[in-house]
Amino acid sequence: MAQKLEDLDLYHLPWHEPSFAADPYPQIEAARERHPWLAKCEAGYVIFEYQAIRDLLVQDDKFRPSFDGVVEIMGARGTPWGRFTEEQMIAMPDREHGLMRSTFAAKFTPRYANQLRPIMRETMERLLREWAPREHIDFEEFASYYPVAVTAQMIGAPLEAIPSLRRSMETMGLGMSMDPTRLPALNEAVVHLERFSEDLIAERRARPRAEEGKGDLLDLLLEASDEGGISHRQLVDLLIFLFVAGYDTSKNVFTYMMHLMMRHPEIYRRCAEDYEYCRKVVEESLRLFNPSSTFRFTDQEFVYRDVVLPKDTMMFFTLNVSGRDPTAFETPHEFDPERPIDPQRRQVGFGMGKHMCLGQYIARAQLQEGIHLVARHMRDPRPAGALDWRPFPGVWGIKGLPIEFTPA
Ligand code: HEM
Repeated sequence: MAQKLEDLDLYHLPWHEPSFAADPYPQIEAARERHPWLAKCEAGYVIFEYQAIRDLLVQDDKFRPSFDGVVEIMGARGTPWGRFTEEQMIAMPDREHGLMRSTFAAKFTPRYANQLRPIMRETMERLLREWAPREHIDFEEFASYYPVAVTAQMIGAPLEAIPSLRRSMETMGLGMSMDPTRLPALNEAVVHLERFSEDLIAERRARPRAEEGKGDLLDLLLEASDEGGISHRQLVDLLIFLFVAGYDTSKNVFTYMMHLMMRHPEIYRRCAEDYEYCRKVVEESLRLFNPSSTFRFTDQEFVYRDVVLPKDTMMFFTLNVSGRDPTAFETPHEFDPERPIDPQRRQVGFGMGKHMCLGQYIARAQLQEGIHLVARHMRDPRPAGALDWRPFPGVWGIKGLPIEFTPA
């Protein structure tokens, strides 16, 4: 006989508390003592077990992503941010999402990510020329310029646009914090990003680069959207979404990697010498730490492992801590880049199912190139002050990582 959700004695995860964001693992273990895969939070239920996440997140027919509730709480209906949030790629109704995905997914291949590596190296080298001589920096701030500059270069945006794009990304990153006082700043950021995308598209339509053999991602997207029947509005939103989706996520993983490296100087030194090894370091870092927890509403009632999940229940999937699940990984808190990877036990930080991250190969390549060059130019990094944590639901990660190092 299947059990009802409300009859289960589930642990309540206090994940809005700063202490939870600083160290969520003991609380997750406390939840596991009550139930093997399910806990509660203020807004709904939490699926925290690695295997349950894998089993459920691929069942797209039983769930729908929905941002209506967030827009409601923020009082943002009809505002630029409210519109963007409800219409962004991840929130699209099935048919539109399917069209977007089938139009663009073929472009975001591992091969394409490899073609972008020279741009990534050039971007990181430029950043290092400016930042490495300083010897004492906030690594999070340094890391924040990298994804935004790479994305800008990918679509041929001018370098001067980067600082204001970055400011807008910082604002957008707090959009899921459910704090309505942030709405004016969020609207301003969306309007800025819309203008930027509109101008870039108009300019490129007037002067396509592909004809000169210098086509970039923007040319690919324009061509694919014309062929696939994607509207101008959707294309503008997609450009914004590429920046937003790749910003805090990549920045927070990169920052966490430096935090890890300072505790593993021998691994860091090897990253400077051994480019291929950096690939393993990135994968193992993504297992240990991930910024994303995602959520869905159940679209129908169904039973999973003897529990009835009623229709319209909000379920959170803690991708961000799933790599430390002791029921899936041996010595889960240990950082071991040489750990053999079992295909049934890959980290799931990029999600699963039909919304799985389109930028995952780009993100991996970017982190590999980034850590290799940083390790070559910032020798012997040491912590140089206290660090803080960003809120756990939303885009989690270290907030401010002061470090000292010896420039090479
Ligand atoms: C380490 C960096 C990154 C992480 C951890 C990450 C994580 C994720 C996750 C978990 C999802 C799925 C969310 C869900 O199912 O609700 C997602 C979706 C997505 N990501 Fe990423 N991401 C990263 C970098 C990037 C980059 C660099 C780009 C773009 C160049 C990107 C573009 C996208 C897009 C377009 C989607 C939506 C796909 C869809 O709805 O079909 N991501 N990402």
